Amino acid sequence: MTQDPRESGVRELPTEEDLTRAGLRLAVEGAVARITISRPERRNAMTGRTWTTMAHIGQTLPSDVRIVVIAGEGDIFSAGIDLNMFTPQGVDGERSIVAGLAEGKTDAAELDAYIAGLQEGFLWLRRPDLVTIAAVRGHAIGAGFQLALSCDLRILAEDAKFCMKEPALGLVPDLTGTKPLVDIVGVHRATEICLTARKVGAEESRELGLATLVVGVDELDGAVDDAIAGLLAVDPDAAVATKALLQQAVGNTLEEQCAAERKAQAGRLTALVESMVPKG
Ligand code: ACO
Repeated sequence: MTQDPRESGVRELPTEEDLTRAGLRLAVEGAVARITISRPERRNAMTGRTWTTMAHIGQTLPSDVRIVVIAGEGDIFSAGIDLNMFTPQGVDGERSIVAGLAEGKTDAAELDAYIAGLQEGFLWLRRPDLVTIAAVRGHAIGAGFQLALSCDLRILAEDAKFCMKEPALGLVPDLTGTKPLVDIVGVHRATEICLTARKVGAEESRELGLATLVVGVDELDGAVDDAIAGLLAVDPDAAVATKALLQQAVGNTLEEQCAAERKAQAGRLTALVESMVPKG
């Protein structure tokens, strides 16, 4: 499961050099962190380093950050994994996914641990103390689609296109995207989307519930700012407790969920009463 940032041992945000090597930009301003996937010459394709650096960001964000926005540089969200990761050379000196396997040097346990490390770059976006927003222009392919699926909200420009390309390449989607996809659209539609690897446009995404909102291309930044303002207007502690409660709902029976609601509300009421008692 997602590593607890307090137990990770990592304390500092990635340096500018780390971010650049990972194809990322990061801007933290008060309660809002903005991550931009920035490799425009590769259509914002991402590498393993992108995701381990994303995990590092998650582990070291200041505790007052409540909102994380992920966008792509320019007119595309992301072309997914950098396909050079599947060549023996890898990308810019970064380990190739296939070289070790081809040479018989990577065993099953190592491969499992390697992929788990990449998944950490996606898992932290579910943390209850954060609300995460994918701001999507243009293509979000493969790992790009899975990254958007890892966010709580997906605000799409009308030119957005999702595509789960992995099966067309002989792969499965393994970057934490299959569960949210099935949770949102159901297993039948998810099967059709994945096994055809077709592009799902913005309007269809809205109909399927994949898009929280679809706006004109020029309105995307404003729509994200409006969403941020709305989210920040809610009590921060109630927001954390509510997100945690909603996340349990899918796996809980009604009885279990009612019990979880009572427990969470007892915590909120206690905190509210304590905040009303004069100090001293
Ligand atoms: N990995 C590496 N390089 C890429 C990738 C990628 N995923 N996507 C695009 N590029 C490079 C191209 O090779 C090209 O490089 P060049 O200028 O040196 O020739 C440059 O980015 C521009 O790409 P174009 O294809 O010319 O851009 P266009 O705007 O026409 O198309 C699109 C964009 C649709 C994203 C297309 O590039 C594409 O389909 N890319 C591959 C998508 C893919 O299969 N991703 C992997 C999915 S599986 C997963 O993510 C786990």
